Amino acid sequence: MINFCRKIFNKLYLFFNKMKFSLFGVKYGKNLVVHGHIDLKLNHKAVAKIGNNFYSSNGMSINPICRNITGSITLAPNSKLTIGDNVGISSTCIWVHQSIFIGNYVNIGADSILIDSDCHSLNYIYRQNIKVDIANKINKEIIIEDNVLIGARCIILKGVTIGARSIIGAGSVVTNSIPPDSIAAGNPARLIKSLK
Ligand SMILES: CC(C)(COP(=O)(O)OP(=O)(O)OC[C@H]1O[C@@H](n2cnc3c(N)ncnc32)[C@H](O)[C@@H]1OP(=O)(O)O)[C@@H](O)C(=O)NCCC(=O)NCCS
Repeated sequence: MINFCRKIFNKLYLFFNKMKFSLFGVKYGKNLVVHGHIDLKLNHKAVAKIGNNFYSSNGMSINPICRNITGSITLAPNSKLTIGDNVGISSTCIWVHQSIFIGNYVNIGADSILIDSDCHSLNYIYRQNIKVDIANKINKEIIIEDNVLIGARCIILKGVTIGARSIIGAGSVVTNSIPPDSIAAGNPARLIKSLK
């Protein structure tokens, strides 16, 4: 009975989520599936493009690792989010200030955060005035290359490139770029294995 209700809820969510994505002007490809509640916000002149077969599980839907965590996709004014084909994300927070690029066949584990900005200035004087603070925050593009797997509860910070086919261990904080074909984990994330 509970599973039946979940299926109905997910169908309803899918319908409303597709409507939400379209209303915000997100360009998406074939077979978009978004289950559960996702917060979506595109500010002025922000551009979001999602490829084919995108799957996003959020909150109390079918993926147990999502539990009650709502996913969110937020784009600041003039920012750009590009998501390739066959990407799956679970209750993930993607907050774009400048640019986040996600390639094809990327999986992002539950409750992870991708944020391409410090969000605040590093100068405490600037932080005393919200407008000056925001005007002086540092943004740097994040690039997640094809076939990357990001474990649950990771934080990917500004300026990071994760090379193709690499894996980021659960609970990692990625502060520096990770080469292709590697496993990196920890806080800060360090290489633990080569996959070559
Ligand atoms: C990263 C991962 C793939 C590595 O698996 P593995 O190749 O079997 O690695 P091992 O268990 O042999 O660990 C190798 C070393 O890395 C360390 N390590 C592994 N995962 C780690 C992590 N997440 N954080 C910090 N260190 C980690 C181990 O402690 C070990 O260190 P040691 O050699 O000093 O003992 C796995 O640990 C992991 O985090 N999987 C992601 C699970 C997940 O979140 N999936 C998504 C769900 S939505």
